[in-house]
Amino acid sequence: MAQLAVVGAGYVGLVTAACLSEFGHQVTCIEVDEGRLSRLRSGDLPIHEPGLSELVSKHTLDGRLRFAGEYGPIAGAEFVFIAVPTPPRKDGAADTSHVLQAVNSLIPHARPGVVIVIKSTVPVGTGDQLAGLALVLEAGLEVVSNPEFLRQGTAVHDFMAPDRVVIGASSTHEAARVADLYASHEAPVVCVDRRSAELAKYTANALLATRISFMNEISHIAAAVHADVDDVARIVGLDRRIGPAFLQAGLGWGGSCFPKDVLALRWVAATSGCPAPILEAVYKTNELQREGAAELLLSAVRAIDDPVVAILGLAFKPNTDDVRGSPALSIARRLLKEGVIVRAHDPFAAVNAGRILPAVDYRRDPYAALDGADALLLATEWEEYGALDWVLVRETMRGKTVLDGRNALNGVFLGELGFRYWSFGRATQRNGNGLAPQEDANGAMLHANENGVWSKVHANGVAPKVDANGTRPGILEAGV
Ligand code: UDX
Repeated sequence: MAQLAVVGAGYVGLVTAACLSEFGHQVTCIEVDEGRLSRLRSGDLPIHEPGLSELVSKHTLDGRLRFAGEYGPIAGAEFVFIAVPTPPRKDGAADTSHVLQAVNSLIPHARPGVVIVIKSTVPVGTGDQLAGLALVLEAGLEVVSNPEFLRQGTAVHDFMAPDRVVIGASSTHEAARVADLYASHEAPVVCVDRRSAELAKYTANALLATRISFMNEISHIAAAVHADVDDVARIVGLDRRIGPAFLQAGLGWGGSCFPKDVLALRWVAATSGCPAPILEAVYKTNELQREGAAELLLSAVRAIDDPVVAILGLAFKPNTDDVRGSPALSIARRLLKEGVIVRAHDPFAAVNAGRILPAVDYRRDPYAALDGADALLLATEWEEYGALDWVLVRETMRGKTVLDGRNALNGVFLGELGFRYWSFGRATQRNGNGLAPQEDANGAMLHANENGVWSKVHANGVAPKVDANGTRPGILEAGV
């Protein structure tokens, strides 16, 4: 087992440190922010991630994981992981100043032969630049790229059971040393040069964002030709060459990674003299989803005095309190600018949203957010919104417009209740099939398209659940 240091106890650093200690390594996690460090030492984690606090307390107790506020402990380390933020600069490039600062700070303490492992997402060529620094060469340090592919909400799982481990190194010897740290993994280890590893990280995120933007484009075509984008996604996702993930149309992608990485890759392309029209379109399409949603909501409430829009969900995706890049906030900002009163609810993210957008009226309860609202936007598909009592929602709201920003609600059911249900490319009233839904012999909802062809309403083909009272909750079962 190896002696490791991890610089940075943010989202990636803390997960990396905790999981590497779970592999059996001795890990010192270096965090220079005093407030964060003292919280960590008292067992109070600055981020919520399923399984993380259990790992951190297990290994602080057994002594395999320690926290330090300075770089001294690097003296005993064989590998130093750099997991510091690389936020976007104004021109879209990733700001690598924290990475450089960390490398400069560790050099005086590191023994010759120590491997600096770059976990942070950095512009292509950063690893080579670091490896070529005079101070790094003189100190006899190696630089290896080892990008992370952690999703918020499943980061511990993603680290422990990755699809692949990527190692970018200039020699097979260094690559093998880093690969050994992951020896307990069953995942394939892909050893390449540093630049390919760095580009692969950007490519993975940009490709996932591309799939979503592409399906969002298809959602508009589906709406125009009276097809159902969810059915289309299910059909193309069954093609093994395509696969079902990241095809869900809706308000589009947010978070701390996709927006920053798409822009950073566009910058890498631009500074390398490569046109990148696809990346441009991927980003633009994502912006258009938000703008289009805001326009739809404005069109629904424009004629009303003192219009009120309720937004359910503020986090960029469910099961996180992170609002960075969240479509909900962009839309709320636009509505506020047009004089709309915006009320919002989120089970976890309201405090973070309030720091960024204090003009929104945040409510503790979804029904309180909906009270007197002329239109509702479902912006984040939190499970609890699936359990809403839609009869009560109808009585609570002043208007009847529901914009389902995640194609997560049962539009036909809401239509039956008298709501004006809008979605992104589903075959609902909004898309104009105009025919009343029916139930088949098994209780599955059927609807007709404009040609009178009956088909199942649900994207996953599952009939809506009926509870003991015979009522259907307004949300779909999980996707395919
Ligand atoms: C992402 C990558 O998945 C991860 O590998 C990388 O290391 C960090 O960035 P994360 O930001 O946690 O992870 O979110 P992810 O689950 O990938 O979702 C990104 C965004 O896409 C969310 O806003 C989500 O709502 C949206 N999304 C996702 C869709 O709109 N449709 C989909 O089909 C899937």
